[in-house]
Amino acid sequence: MEIQTDFLVLGSGIAGLAFAIKASRLGTVAIVTKKETIESNTNYAQGGIATVIDQEDSFESHIKDTLEAGGGLCHEDVVRFVVTEGPERVRELIEWGVRFSPSASSEGYDLGREGGHSHRRVLHAEDLTGREIERALVERAGTIDNIQIFENHFAVNLITRSKITGTDERPDRCLGSYVYDIKNQSVRTFRAKFVILATGGSGKVYMITTNPDIATGDGLAMAFRAKANIANMEFIQFHPTCLFHPQAKSFLISEAVRGEGGVLKLKNGSTFMEKYDPRGSLAPRDVVAQAIDRELKKRGDEFVYLDIRHRGRKFLKERFPHIYHRCLEFGIDMARDMIPVAPAAHYQCGGVVVNEYGETTIGHLFACGEVSCTGLHGANRLASNSLLEAVVFAHRIFKRIESIFAVTPADTLYIPPWDPKGTVESDESIMISHNWDEIRMCMSNYVGIVRSDKRLHRAKRRIELISQEIDEYYWNFKITPELLELRNIATVAQLIIACSRLRKESRGLHFNIDYPYRDDANFKKDTIVNRDILSALNQNGL
Ligand code: FAD
Ligand code: SIN
Repeated sequence: MEIQTDFLVLGSGIAGLAFAIKASRLGTVAIVTKKETIESNTNYAQGGIATVIDQEDSFESHIKDTLEAGGGLCHEDVVRFVVTEGPERVRELIEWGVRFSPSASSEGYDLGREGGHSHRRVLHAEDLTGREIERALVERAGTIDNIQIFENHFAVNLITRSKITGTDERPDRCLGSYVYDIKNQSVRTFRAKFVILATGGSGKVYMITTNPDIATGDGLAMAFRAKANIANMEFIQFHPTCLFHPQAKSFLISEAVRGEGGVLKLKNGSTFMEKYDPRGSLAPRDVVAQAIDRELKKRGDEFVYLDIRHRGRKFLKERFPHIYHRCLEFGIDMARDMIPVAPAAHYQCGGVVVNEYGETTIGHLFACGEVSCTGLHGANRLASNSLLEAVVFAHRIFKRIESIFAVTPADTLYIPPWDPKGTVESDESIMISHNWDEIRMCMSNYVGIVRSDKRLHRAKRRIELISQEIDEYYWNFKITPELLELRNIATVAQLIIACSRLRKESRGLHFNIDYPYRDDANFKKDTIVNRDILSALNQNGL
């Protein structure tokens, strides 16, 4: 059965929900989400959302900090509008019911500080900002008749219409998506006037990540298969301080802990960050993660410590109640013990290329949030700028569509239903779990914080082989969410490797020991790839 809607929103994190709430004023919205609605990276955000609301702060300062963190690759026009439009969008979140922590000493909100920010400008809800934002947006969306949420529905592929010019065939309009209904084990066709990809990031491509299980780069892989342009996938942000404990699956110790005075220390208790950056433990993430990586490798250690004991129990319990209690569950008392931490894959700075209105290179297909590459983050995202980017772009996409909605007819092209013919039930689930582990291991060992040409080449060969195996399997067996995620994660891995191989320098989050310098003359530009570019590179053995 085909489902028709004005807007098809893939994903129910901050980007998808913020857009859906706005778009519902224009028409019907179907939100498709692969698990329950709240399950998203958004739900786990801790530090907060950066914006200029303090009299002492200024737009110029936030812009300068963002540009500096971005290692020369931010698009300055984008940085300017995201920063200056930010306060209005944050006020809108508050109107929609988000309760940020109030200031204890004055009117207004408590403002946190994080690495790379020269002012306190991070609004937060204790240390569970994402959960509070997600709660408010889900509640708000639930009151709107025009919004229908399809939980446990997994977007499989985008449906596009192509235009043929000479020998060139390009998708010129996105018509919808094939979506796997997990409970009924069947694929449904969703047709829409406008499709918004808001599927988030891809941290699960690495063994150790702060991201929840949903972060498998599905939207990115779908857009790539549909021939959209993708950029800057070499810039994977590793968060310096993920809790190091065998039972703590990907638990983040917020950068706000360093913002409140937490200091990174070696196992012997000595500090080390001052050797790497005058800002010490509060340097931007690329600098801190690379410094920790170097110290760990030098000493053969598995973790460093984060020491915030000096702030005392009362402060820690009030400012970081969630982190405080989670640490206690693992036997770590933040007020008495130093916290063992290690870097973990955290954020995808690259993504589906969009313009200043969130339009991808395929007509009627927009991308918003972590799945997109807007030009804001450049080679390294400034902390707490991603929630901000999502709400600013959700609004811009809405304004763009609002201006053309009334004159945009629905497309009536016939869309063939999903055809599972010839496929049978999977007989070897081991293929999925084995390849899943192999991809993540390969990416962590060869395409992590420190890269080299040799490591990238090895990773390319291995991932190519695994991808061929997955493709054969995909066409022969009935789909399952695990198979779809495996296929997508393999594509994301290929894209990270391809972009990393193209950037023969070190900048921001991309460090290659064969080119340990920044080369502005040749590489002060985005790394743009798509299916055609990738197959040309492969054909030429590059
Ligand atoms: P998400 O919130 O990840 O939402 C993606 C949605 O798409 C989910 O609902 C998912 O289920 C759905 N989805 C994915 N694939 C499919 C598919 N195939 N079919 C259907 N649905 C699909 N940023 C900040 O600015 N400040 C912070 O303090 C901060 N803290 C963070 C802490 C942690 C632990 C993590 C992991 C990230 C943090 N970030 C922070 C980053 C920020 O949370 C994310 O970048 C942001 O929330 C992404 O929002 P999104 O809407 O783009 O994607
Ligand atoms: C954190 O709280 O450290 C995460 C902030 C971010 O990723 O922006």
